[in-house]
Amino acid sequence: MEKMWAGRFIGALDRMADDFNSSIHFDSKMYEQDIKGSLAHAAMLCAQGIISADDLEKISAGLEEILADIREGRLEIDMNAEDIHMFVEAELTKRIGDVGKRLHTARSRNDQVALDLRLYLRDESAKIKAGLLSLIKAIYEKASENTDAIMPGYTHLQRAQPITFAQHLLAYAMMFMRDVDRLSDAVKRMNVSPLGSCALAGTTYPTDRDMVAKALGFDGVTENSMDGVSDRDFCAELLSVCSIIMMHLSRFSEEIILWSSWEFGFVELSDAYTTGSSIMPQKKNSDMAELVRGKTGRVYGDLIGTLTMLKGLPLAYNKDMQEDKESVFDGVETVEKCLEIFAPMLSTMKVKKENMRTAAGKGFINATDLADYLTKKGMPFRSAYKIVGNIVASCLASGNILETLPLAVYKNFSELFEEDLYEEISLDTCVKKRISKGSTGPESVSYQLRLVADYLNMQTID
Ligand code: ARG
Repeated sequence: MEKMWAGRFIGALDRMADDFNSSIHFDSKMYEQDIKGSLAHAAMLCAQGIISADDLEKISAGLEEILADIREGRLEIDMNAEDIHMFVEAELTKRIGDVGKRLHTARSRNDQVALDLRLYLRDESAKIKAGLLSLIKAIYEKASENTDAIMPGYTHLQRAQPITFAQHLLAYAMMFMRDVDRLSDAVKRMNVSPLGSCALAGTTYPTDRDMVAKALGFDGVTENSMDGVSDRDFCAELLSVCSIIMMHLSRFSEEIILWSSWEFGFVELSDAYTTGSSIMPQKKNSDMAELVRGKTGRVYGDLIGTLTMLKGLPLAYNKDMQEDKESVFDGVETVEKCLEIFAPMLSTMKVKKENMRTAAGKGFINATDLADYLTKKGMPFRSAYKIVGNIVASCLASGNILETLPLAVYKNFSELFEEDLYEEISLDTCVKKRISKGSTGPESVSYQLRLVADYLNMQTID
């Protein structure tokens, strides 16, 4: 196939070099955006008197036809084409003749590809947002059912203080709500049109960049033509958002994997989201959660690859930038798939409240509350902390726990101990008495649940 840029060349491009140069294998997925961008561009060219109404009519009809034909499988994208932009333009000219050659007036592939990518990633961002909202909804529902499920809260993976499973889950709701906000913020900067920047310096034609931007749903235009064609911040930003989402999903996965183990036994994943072993008949593995954890590294790689590809580039466009697409496509697709599997995996997960409570009963997780008991009776906290430390040590030596240690023994440590200490250190009291804002106490948890519900009600899917 003759190259559109063949004019200044005498020799042909080496076959291997041609393959190496081609991006059609991955940028063909932007065909919708490419055609919609061209439709808007052509309409503007006509409105500004750069092409005739007759030309516009032919170009628009041709482009609409190509779009419909690709969508409905009548036209196969030719994998020998250099990229999607060249393919669409060549196909147009094939269908409507020389008029098709007018489409590329006052435009370059440099601003065209920047436009297509922004349009494409705007759509993908909306999908990611929808995935995040479904996950937040699943978390909200699980949390609502588990406001009474007392479990040990951990620090250093050591049992620390009693919490409810609802409180633990709501921590993840907060993370994913921040992710939605971060994503919306990234989309704000992504949503400006670079079209009309042309190759790098703008154009001598009287174009109307704002008209094109408006037609394509952008909030404005890029303000510098060189920045317009060489800016890929929106890819790096979106991949940063994706990386943070994956980091959150990965931490959540890690916990689900731990909770599903025999050692914890806090939850059981549905058969629909687990797999067995080919040799060990007893096994039920949390493969989906493990895969999400594993894929996190891949998305980080996409981000680092993109930043590294960009870091040494002089202005304006360089072919290195063709490498932006595979990374960012992989990043967004991975996040979308992970979110898609995570929400139903969580919704169908069985919570074993009894096991959680049993685990919370061991490990002295009410020791802080015992120290608070003494403190409320007038003892300075540091002294109370020390006494309770001694009590724990003696319990460990004698195989006792705080709940069953006799009052007479407590009295040996401090005269301030009375019968009411047992009520004070019961797990239910420990949770109920947490009254600070954001705590695991019942009032705080219902406030958080309301917050999440309101957040979900406020969101619109764009
Ligand atoms: N396939 C190219 C890319 O993805 C399109 C832009 C090519 N521009 C150029 N001046 N060669 O970046």
